[in-house]
Amino acid sequence: MQVWITGGGSGIGRALAEQLTLDGHSVCISGRSKEKLSAVSPDISAIPCDVSKPESVQNALIQMPPPDLAILNAGTYSPGPTHTASPEEFQQAMAVNYFGVINCLTALLPRMLERGGHIAVVGSLAGYRGLPNASGYGPSKAAVISLCESMRAELDGTGVKFQLINPGFVKSPLTEKNDFEMPYLMEAEEAADIILRGLQSNRFEIAFPAPFVRRLKFIRLLPYRFFFPLIQKVTRT
Ligand SMILES: NC(=O)c1ccc[n+]([C@@H]2O[C@H](COP(=O)([O-])OP(=O)(O)OC[C@H]3O[C@@H](n4cnc5c(N)ncnc54)[C@H](OP(=O)(O)O)[C@@H]3O)[C@@H](O)[C@H]2O)c1
Repeated sequence: MQVWITGGGSGIGRALAEQLTLDGHSVCISGRSKEKLSAVSPDISAIPCDVSKPESVQNALIQMPPPDLAILNAGTYSPGPTHTASPEEFQQAMAVNYFGVINCLTALLPRMLERGGHIAVVGSLAGYRGLPNASGYGPSKAAVISLCESMRAELDGTGVKFQLINPGFVKSPLTEKNDFEMPYLMEAEEAADIILRGLQSNRFEIAFPAPFVRRLKFIRLLPYRFFFPLIQKVTRT
């Protein structure tokens, strides 16, 4: 199987690329930094690409065999209170995390609708509800979740399998920015194992780790009068 992974030069994307290669698949990774990409195994082909730029995505796809599986994993995260962030930081979160996915989907879908295939988009449990110090990242992931719900319904019966991956906390350069204790933090390799098992299932959402997902799904249902006091309590440092 030919696989394309965006953001494959580090963290979850890299762990997925390495495991899929060990499993005998032909993997191509993309990201902006050539250095990061070239530090990954030489068995994995690397095509630099900035997902926030439609022409860069189109260019990358021209240079690789058509993917049977595309894992749209590239993402950016800049934590902190809203009043300390610049408008550009919010724009960057949407440009990479949301429009980056759109740029890849619009480039991939015409061909995939003809020949069939599989697309999995990486969202986040942080997209379930608005959380303090994540006002750039959270909305971009909430948008991804909503986008994927629309796409799943649209692609039903077309021959394109479509899944949403919502991880909890995973050790990576992205979570190194967090200065708080991260519940249920796991290694990228463990996350990759769970994701790869999920990709073989017919579940729409691959969310993990299970105990954290259960808690957040419950919190997602809470009315504001319960939600805000609880979130204040659990996120207070
Ligand atoms: N780690 C977690 O706890 C966690 C939890 C929930 C969801 N996620 C999501 O999981 C995905 C992978 O994150 P990670 O934790 O593995 O972090 P990571 O190691 O920082 O990986 C993110 C990757 O995205 C690439 N990237 C960033 N901007 C890009 C752009 N404009 N175009 C192309 N590639 C770009 C980065 O490479 P370059 O800088 O070289 O471009 C990097 O390799 C992200 O979507 C993240 O939001 C992570």
